[in-house]
Amino acid sequence: MEKLFKKIKPEQINGNIFELIGREWMLITAGNTDHYNMMTASWGTAGVLWRKPVVMIFVRPQRYTREFIEKSAYFSISFFEERQRDLLNLCGTTSGRDLNKMNIEGMTPVGMPTGAVGFAEAKLVLECRKIYFDDIDPSFFQTFDIEKIYPNNDYHRFYIGEIIDCWEKKL
Ligand SMILES: Cc1cc2nc3c(=O)[nH]c(=O)nc-3n(C[C@H](O)[C@H](O)[C@H](O)COP(=O)(O)O)c2cc1C
Repeated sequence: MEKLFKKIKPEQINGNIFELIGREWMLITAGNTDHYNMMTASWGTAGVLWRKPVVMIFVRPQRYTREFIEKSAYFSISFFEERQRDLLNLCGTTSGRDLNKMNIEGMTPVGMPTGAVGFAEAKLVLECRKIYFDDIDPSFFQTFDIEKIYPNNDYHRFYIGEIIDCWEKKL
């Protein structure tokens, strides 16, 4: 990891987090370099909680990646350049149950110090420790429009990850 990336502080992340997550999208990866899976996500947050820098990711029950997150103590969030949008589209429209995502050309796994998996092609990878999860409970919705997002009642489980390290691609 150190060969390709340098460690930066969360405060030094380049770019606007709304742009990064909502428009550029992120790749959630869980597992280890021998067995991992990843999916694209554009819903999530990054901020501060319990005196720690954290990310929150939201994963529906049917995602294959969720099985990996459940079994892993760590996960990663990777961000890519615009020219790699095709890869994010592929990982966001195909399930690892139908395609072995470990074989996708142009996505080279890199083992990180915690054992989590990042990608050599990413511009930024956040290495995260899973510290909390919960399921969205529709009885707590305060506006009607949110319920429409769940016609199949497949409420997201959210995971809070403590950002252990931020890895920025070396120039
Ligand atoms: C732009 C974009 C954003 C997405 N955001 C999320 C998300 O935040 N949470 C989620 O559960 N699925 C999200 N998805 C859907 C998953 O990426 C998609 O279902 C993927 O195929 C799951 O792969 P898996 O079954 O291998 O885990 C998104 C898809 C796209 C294209």
